[in-house]
Amino acid sequence: MRIRRKPHAKKMVREHPRVVKEPEQLRGKWHTLFGNDRPLHLELGTGKGQFLSRACQDTPGVNWIGVERIEEVLLLALKKAEETPCVNLRFLWMDVSRLDEVFEEGEVDRIYLHFSDPWPKKRHARRRLTHRHFLDRYKKVLKPKGEILLKTDNSPLFDFSLEELEATGFTIMESTRDLYQSPYVRGNIPTEYEQKFTARGMPIHYLRAKHPRDFSSTR
Ligand SMILES: C[S@@+](CC[C@H](N)C(=O)[O-])C[C@H]1O[C@@H](n2cnc3c(N)ncnc32)[C@H](O)[C@@H]1O
Repeated sequence: MRIRRKPHAKKMVREHPRVVKEPEQLRGKWHTLFGNDRPLHLELGTGKGQFLSRACQDTPGVNWIGVERIEEVLLLALKKAEETPCVNLRFLWMDVSRLDEVFEEGEVDRIYLHFSDPWPKKRHARRRLTHRHFLDRYKKVLKPKGEILLKTDNSPLFDFSLEELEATGFTIMESTRDLYQSPYVRGNIPTEYEQKFTARGMPIHYLRAKHPRDFSSTR
């Protein structure tokens, strides 16, 4: 993603009412922020926020949080969120690697990974958001019945993610290399990147994986 740096972006993000300040203080008590016990869903690497601004309206019974580390990109997501009436949508301006500092063990119901940066070079594999050192963090913060939903256009990243998920004990419940030709497309909300790739006729890879501690899951 090409980003035009904005001198006031940091200040604007810091002061925006939808950006949670000092999120570590809410560790273990996110329900107090939303004022209810509804499921907590995170989109990691939210980008410009297209998915969340629709998801929060389509699914008001969920508390949605977008995590994004680049302030200029987050500003665009915040602008989009301002166009919605959603009271169930917040954002975190931080790196995903800090997830377990901000969420308590078993606090999160679902994690969405949408078109994560593929980092194709082997020496950059640790930066992929499905590298096992990230998955171990997700494993901690997810509930025993929690799950990860992933979409990507990138076959090597998809293969890598399947391998890493299995290596860390997750169970793959659904998987397809062509979402739009599969039954899983029902209720799908396209992200910004997804729209770009589908317009070019590229197939979208999708998977849903269950937490290792969900003893009810079957292959
Ligand atoms: C390729 S874009 C995809 C954006 C959006 N999810 C979509 O599908 O349209 C990936 C986004 O993830 C963010 N990102 C990548 N690594 C991150 C990390 N470690 N922590 C937080 N955000 C991250 C990038 O800044 C970028 O905005």
